[in-house]
Parts: sequence; C-alpha cells; structure tokens
Amino acid sequence: MTSATLTINGKEIELPILEGSEHEVGINISKLRSQTGIVAYDPGYGNTGACSSGITFIDGEKGILRYRGYPIEQLAEQASFVEVCFLLIYGHLPSQAELADFREQLTRHTLIHEDMKKFFEGYPPSAHPMAIMAAMVISLSAYYPDTPDLVDLNIIRLLAKAKTIAAFSYKKSIGQPYVYPRNDLDYTADFLHMMFAVPAETYTVSPTIAKALNLLLILHADHEQNCSTSTVRMVGSSQASLFASIGAGVCALWGPLHGGANQEVIQMLEMIRDDGMNTQKYVDMAKDPNSDYRLFGFGHRVYKNFDPRARILKGAADEVLAELGVSDPLLTIAKNLEEVALQDDYFIQRKLYPNVDFYSGIIYRAMGIPTDMFTVLFALGRLPGWIAQWKEMRGDAETRINRPRQIYNGSGESTYVPLNQR
Ligand code: CMC
Repeated sequence: MTSATLTINGKEIELPILEGSEHEVGINISKLRSQTGIVAYDPGYGNTGACSSGITFIDGEKGILRYRGYPIEQLAEQASFVEVCFLLIYGHLPSQAELADFREQLTRHTLIHEDMKKFFEGYPPSAHPMAIMAAMVISLSAYYPDTPDLVDLNIIRLLAKAKTIAAFSYKKSIGQPYVYPRNDLDYTADFLHMMFAVPAETYTVSPTIAKALNLLLILHADHEQNCSTSTVRMVGSSQASLFASIGAGVCALWGPLHGGANQEVIQMLEMIRDDGMNTQKYVDMAKDPNSDYRLFGFGHRVYKNFDPRARILKGAADEVLAELGVSDPLLTIAKNLEEVALQDDYFIQRKLYPNVDFYSGIIYRAMGIPTDMFTVLFALGRLPGWIAQWKEMRGDAETRINRPRQIYNGSGESTYVPLNQR
C-alpha cells in the first residue's frame, strides 16, 4: 500500500501513504489543497498526524507506551527520572559517564537569578502555582539569553531550574521562606527538600516519597502529540524560543481536560466523600446527556482499552500508602468508582477507563503535596518530553510554521453602516 485514491467531483487524485516504524499508516494530504482547492476537516485533530516523531510510541488499543522504544513498565520499575530525561532528549540511554555528567550539569544550574525572587513576592498568596510556573518559565528568557546557539545550555537550565521555581511557588503560597537547592541531593530529593524543609528543623527526605516521586515523574515524562506538546510544537514552529514555547505548554497543560484533571479528580473524590459516599450518583451525573459533568480521571483520546500509566499507579497507590502508613478514604472511593464505572454500559461502550490522573493525586496527597501543586508536578514530569519534542521539531526539515485552515461559517459580505445610521 503506497498510495490512496481520492475522488472529488469525478476527478481522481493519488495521495501518498506513509508507514511508521510500528506500522502506523497515514495518508499524506500535504498537497491536497494545492491540487484540489479543498482542505481536510478534523476538529480536535483526532485523525490528523501533525508530524513524524521518533520519541514516543503509543498503541491505544493495546495499552502500549514506549519512550524511544523502551516500555514504560521497564522504565517505571528500573530507571531514574534523570535517566529518562536524557533518554527522551538525546535519544539513547546514557552510559554511566554520560549520566554522571548530565546529573552534574543539572545540579550546577538549579539556582534561579536572585532578582527573579521579586516576581514571586508580587503574587497574592492565593495565586495558583501553575500561573506562577508558566510566568516564571517564560521569564527565564529575560535572565538567560534564549538564542539558538544556547539551546543545549538552556535545556539544562530549564530542567534544573523548573523544580526550584515549582518549590518556590509553593513556599510563597504558604508564606514560608524559600529553601535553596542543595548540590548534595539528587533531583527528586532536592525538590522534596526545597518543598518541605523549614529553617527551624532538619528535614530528611523519605526514601519512599522520593521513590514515588521518581515513578510519577517518569510516568508523565512524554505522551507524544497531546494538547500541551502540540502547543509547544505549534508555538515553536514560529521559531519562538525554548522558554517561550515551553511556557505555552505549561499553560495548555493547566486545563482540567488535560493535566489539570489530577486536581479535579481529588476535588471530585472529596465531593463524593462529603456527599455520603454516593458513587453511583456521580456516575449517573456523568452519564446524563443533559449535564456536561464528567468523571475526571476517566477517558482518553488515544487509550481505548487501558492506560498503562494508570495501571502502574493503581498498584503504586496501594504500596506507597501502606509504606507511609497512610489510610486515605479517597483511595477506597476511587477504587469503588472505578469498579462501578467499568461495569456500566455507558463507560463500556465509550471505552472510558481510568487515565493517568485518576490515581496520581492519591499518591501526591499521601506524599504531602497540596492539591493545587499536582498539575505543577505533572509539568515537571512532562518537561523532558516537551523539550525533546521541541528539539525534534526544530531539527526536522519538514517543519513549517503551524497554520491550520478553517471552514468559514460566518456572515457573507456585508456593507458597513456608520454608527449614527444604525
Ligand atoms: N466522563 C463521562 N463521559 C465521558 C468522559 C468522562 N470522563 N470522557 C468522555 N466521555 C464521553 C463523552 O461525553 C462522549 O460521549 P458521547 O459520545 O455520548 O457524546 C464520549 O465519551 C467521547 O468523549 P470525547 O469528549 O469525544 O472524547 P475526547 O477524546 O475528545 O476527550 C478526554 C478525551 C480525556 C478529554 C475526555 O475523556 C475527558 O474529558 N475526560 C475527563 C478529563 C480527564 O480525565 N482528562 C485527563 C486526560 S489523561 C492525562 C492527560 O493527557 O492530560
């Protein structure tokens, strides 16, 4: 199969077919408009391949997710987040020397410019940390020249400084002094230390919490052409800088249908708890055609069988809570909700399963992470994916500025009527 034939108004045109390395097939319509004057119409891009990419492979029917060919289950079990960052960004697993060098660089660039602290001070304590995160990522370009020759250094800076920014935004929100990064701690321990240490006490990072954070970050690290990644590519296609493109990705992630769902899930579970544990009521609300209520943490554009990340997290939730000695009624409600929904025809027919956001919040809670920081943690995890996709896009000879077409359905030509005659 090398081409497809499309017949329009009796005229046949041949469209080339592309096949990916995992046998995904796509019809190349890049010349459709110039040959026929007609465009493809695909709201939400559910059928549109916007690029070719060698970073992440997903088979939504089989529940497969691989970064650079490596199954998510193996990475989740055995790798460190920093190793996964290297893998995604540079395309291969690091040697010991490469990893040591990469770690060293990430450790050396964790401080943010002292003047940037003034920005944090300007926000009200109620500010959502995602607003601060997005603004600070873009603001990095004001302090660190964001020119094409500095991309490699800026990739390191972004990965290293993002966790400092995230922790400072939390400290700001609770009115505590900022805790500076420490070079003797690894990536996850350093972040936890900046989040939870207070000057009056010695804070020791719990290995269970550090391990859980490592797992969560790995599971969020990339997910091919999702909304925020496509935003990063879209913005970057105008040749906007790394910091600007990724700042835009942070904003896209914030929405409740995307990364913001992890916060919504906990709010939904709390609502069910406070409403007499009436799970069925919320399942019924989600099914009601007259309501736009949805079960957060359920459904996915690509996964139609199970989300392998959710499967890993369900097991991890049990383990982490047991190890930390935490008993959280929300975990029981979540399991009950999953059971009720998965037996319901509405969810079965639409192939709606728990996604990555369904169990992640319960683990974050047990780790002591406040609810409005959940999406920030998603952003920290997704950074290497955004960076890898941005880098791939910029190096791809096929990249053009992203500029979709539309089918106009507004008014026909109208004659302007001056204000005093209307
Ligand atoms: N609860 C109830 N019904 C749902 C849900 C849900 N969570 N998700 C989809 N549906 C229904 C939807 O109403 C539609 O029904 P009908 O065919 O009768 O109109 C059908 O299922 C198909 O849904 P869709 O909105 O066309 O699917 P989509 O691919 O456009 O949306 C989604 C995918 C993830 C945005 C959606 O499933 C959703 O809103 N889920 C809740 C939010 C959520 O958990 N988001 C996190 C996604 S995973 C992490 C990430 O990548 O960000």
